[in-house]
Amino acid sequence: MANRLPARQIVPAGGGRPPPQEAYLNAYDVLVIGSGLAGLSAALRLAPHRKVALVTKHELLEGASAYAQGGIAAVLDSTDSLENHVRDTHVAGAGLCHDDAVRFVVERGRPAIEWLVAQGVPFTRETGGAEELHLHREGGHSHRRIVHAADATGNAVQRTLVERVKGHPNIEILDWHIAIDLITGRKLGLGDNGCHGAYVLDLKAGKVRTLSARSTILASGGAGKVYLYTTNPDTATGDGIAMGWRAGCPVANMEFIQFHPTCLYHPHAKSFLISEAVRGEGGLLKLPGGERFMPQHDERAELAPRDVVARAIDFEMKKRGLDCVYLDISHKGEAFVREHFPNIHAKCLGFGIDIAKEPIPVVPAAHYSCGGLQVDLAGRTPVAGLYALGEVACTGLHGANRLASNSLLECLVFSEAATADILATAPAPVPALPAWDESRVTDADEEVVIAHNWDELRRSMWSYVGIVRTDKRLERALHRINLLQDEIEEFYSNFRVSNDLIELRNLVVTAELIVRSALARKESRGLHFSSDWPDPLPEARDTVLDPRTVTL
Ligand code: FAD
Ligand code: SIN
Repeated sequence: MANRLPARQIVPAGGGRPPPQEAYLNAYDVLVIGSGLAGLSAALRLAPHRKVALVTKHELLEGASAYAQGGIAAVLDSTDSLENHVRDTHVAGAGLCHDDAVRFVVERGRPAIEWLVAQGVPFTRETGGAEELHLHREGGHSHRRIVHAADATGNAVQRTLVERVKGHPNIEILDWHIAIDLITGRKLGLGDNGCHGAYVLDLKAGKVRTLSARSTILASGGAGKVYLYTTNPDTATGDGIAMGWRAGCPVANMEFIQFHPTCLYHPHAKSFLISEAVRGEGGLLKLPGGERFMPQHDERAELAPRDVVARAIDFEMKKRGLDCVYLDISHKGEAFVREHFPNIHAKCLGFGIDIAKEPIPVVPAAHYSCGGLQVDLAGRTPVAGLYALGEVACTGLHGANRLASNSLLECLVFSEAATADILATAPAPVPALPAWDESRVTDADEEVVIAHNWDELRRSMWSYVGIVRTDKRLERALHRINLLQDEIEEFYSNFRVSNDLIELRNLVVTAELIVRSALARKESRGLHFSSDWPDPLPEARDTVLDPRTVTL
């Protein structure tokens, strides 16, 4: 297959180009790309020792982390045990979780929560002024172990960390800056296997900065926007996965896209999540006539892991031609609902749905990328000096299906591990970096092409690469993606970069990696269900795609 990588990778400056502008060449010890929980916690841990640039393409608070509702899983209850959490994670992960990664994360749950408490995060505590943190229960968890701040945990965590980052003299915040590509020795033809920084578009000034760094952390989140319907914010466009892939990093298990079972179904609600904790606290899934259906699908009923619940909802909707099903928590009474789910209650009320009195219309939507850039237990990629943390990474923790509330925990544990590794490693020298070259491009003449391709890509992924897959549908998706790749490559080669073009270029790479990984898996396991291959194979294996051997 032809090499589809865009022609304009990194072109050394010169050849009639003006010299680089001083203001747009900056040097740091560590470059952190992304200000979700992974990025903020890494920046805060590094800042006492290193000069950090924190690059984020929107305002600091924007990203999936701030929308997290349910909370953070950790073994804190005396009736619970690390073994229970390990076992629940493996069961949800359908045999594909790496035991070393699971234990590594689960064992660090308590100190991770203690670190957040020390930062000042206002978690919900037991009633009566008790010191103990209140723990929710969620699907797939055998015990109560979800630390939370009411039903808006991510917001409480992110607001606290953003305040700390803002005041730190060693952290330079570059918000409204979108990373375009990593700068590597391989791309520069230097013969080393290192990452030396990134090119970053300053969205307000419309200029590309060259940021050099001894270590670079990709903490750019997931890729939910590759699907038409998603719980994810607009920032989740797979940028880090695509940048890492172009820098030479293998990806693992990209086919495992988690569909959250319960996204609010309302024409004016832009992907509002109804937390897993609603089912955990007694919410029941019902058909329009009021009958429950989960007990017919799984003995754990509403508390089954979310791949099982999402597939059951998909099945019932398709079988009965329904637009949605219903999640009912009204039997718990108004006081309980208001106390445990104040945010969800208020938000739904704004759409005319009183969840304390009536069931909530819900549908599944793309929620989480279990796969990503393959990293070790220190968050290291095979490219020297390049780390990947949070949803952009595949650590082995989630296997074929992430257990609810394990993601924020993974962000915390791996940012601690990666920053410890960075601080313990002698920094490599950074070579002189060429400036971004725009000498051969012009302004885009037809922005409509970008908008149209975004839409087509997301619709194709929703229709052909959804909850239930077949080889034929996947082949169809791949064919369309390849046509889009050609158009986007041409656009990228000829026109000045913009936020939408950068994201589209990354989305299409991410989409292709998802589809190719799905085609490579000849079985059904966890989140990947194929009607052509309905049974699991006897041995669970990762799907690994390596850019040295696979050309998109
Ligand atoms: P994010 O928080 O998404 O942050 C990524 C950052 O990278 C953003 O700041 C973004 O702007 C920036 N960025 C991206 N690309 C670029 C670029 N090219 N240049 C510069 N910056 C860039 N998990 C749980 O464990 N518990 C929960 O209760 C929970 N609830 C959830 C609810 C919702 C609605 C959603 C969407 C997810 C939920 N998850 C939950 C999953 C969890 O929130 C995410 O997996 C986690 O927050 C990912 O953190 P992150 O730091 O990796 O990425
Ligand atoms: C939720 O609150 O349902 C989201 C939890 C998660 O994604 O881990």
